[in-house]
Amino acid sequence: MLGFSSIPLWGLLVFLLTIPQSALCTSTTVSTIFQFPNIGSWIEGIAVRENGDILITRTDTPELWSINPLTKQASLLYTFPNATSTVGITELSPGIYAVGAGIVDLATTVATAGSFVIWTVDLRFLTPRASVLKAIPEGQSLSGMTLYEGGGPPLLLIADTKKGAVWRLDPRTGAYSVALSDSSMLPVEGLPPIGINGIKVSGRTLYYTSSTKQVFCRVALNTDGSAAGPIEVVASGFFQDGLALKPDGTAYITTHPRNTVLKVTPSGETSVFVGNLNSTAVAGSTDAQFGFYWGQEVLYVTTNGALSAPVNGTFTEPAKVVMVTMC
Ligand SMILES: *[C@@H]1O[C@H](CO)[C@@H](O)[C@H](O)[C@H]1NC(C)=O
Ligand SMILES: *[C@@H]1O[C@H](CO)[C@@H](O)[C@H](O)[C@H]1NC(C)=O
Ligand SMILES: *[C@@H]1O[C@H](CO)[C@@H](O)[C@H](O)[C@H]1NC(C)=O
Repeated sequence: MLGFSSIPLWGLLVFLLTIPQSALCTSTTVSTIFQFPNIGSWIEGIAVRENGDILITRTDTPELWSINPLTKQASLLYTFPNATSTVGITELSPGIYAVGAGIVDLATTVATAGSFVIWTVDLRFLTPRASVLKAIPEGQSLSGMTLYEGGGPPLLLIADTKKGAVWRLDPRTGAYSVALSDSSMLPVEGLPPIGINGIKVSGRTLYYTSSTKQVFCRVALNTDGSAAGPIEVVASGFFQDGLALKPDGTAYITTHPRNTVLKVTPSGETSVFVGNLNSTAVAGSTDAQFGFYWGQEVLYVTTNGALSAPVNGTFTEPAKVVMVTMC
């Protein structure tokens, strides 16, 4: 008699792996992948590797961490010298990442102008190899970073949240200059000095959040990263931090003190994707990136545990990475 136990295990595995994901995924779920032990931890930026591992930067320490979403194990990859914080992170080429490091006062989020250095971290070997790509002494407060391949040499675009500008840095030569600056990128006077913050590129269009100005904008770029057209406001009226961007321009924007991630379509329709002002689900959401978990697309969201704006005025928790299913 053919008993269940005689079905080879690999057969069951192949069966499980070939079930259409839509059959398994019936509603959006939120689960914690990793949480640091201490209140006061602050995850700032995220990148997702080809192997599925999550890389995160931290405002509270000058460290780069790697998290395996399957085993939920986290490990410290590198501690950057002469810095208190790591900020933006983006992939330069397979296995090689650019990471910004500098001095930021955690309590006030005020950065020390001139302290920022862009590093490369090569993760293709057993031990990470970090080296200085370029110090940017004219930088005031560097934040989000993305790679732009617009037909010319690839350029790193780096948001300067206090200066209200985007730096372009050629990773091959180290040459850098201001690519863009605009009043929409400047912080609002009298508020914390946080203007342009998260930046992402799709094709030859740059999308950026501007935190205290509360605008999400896009602008067409020339090959050299300069503006090829007018700056367009896509959505506005909410505090915004880092973002994940679909190729079609749909954005998943973290709202930090509002404890949500908002989905903004290319036409500007805005809806709550996850979280709530009074909820701890993504308390103090700082950045987001897409990934795959057992073949299913997910959104990873990083937090600072509501450190800068406690939920209901009192609740804070350690920083975490959560996974949100995308169905
Ligand atoms: C760190 O700062 C010291 C003192 O300013 C300097 O000598 C050293 O080169 C710096 N290290 C790096 C990696 O920038
Ligand atoms: C915040 O307050 C609301 C009700 O006002 C409550 O539903 C919610 O659970 C509270 N959140 C926390 C984290 O205490
Ligand atoms: C959050 O809680 C406050 C009361 O503490 C309430 O006035 C408000 O409507 C709640 N907001 C949401 C989005 O649930």
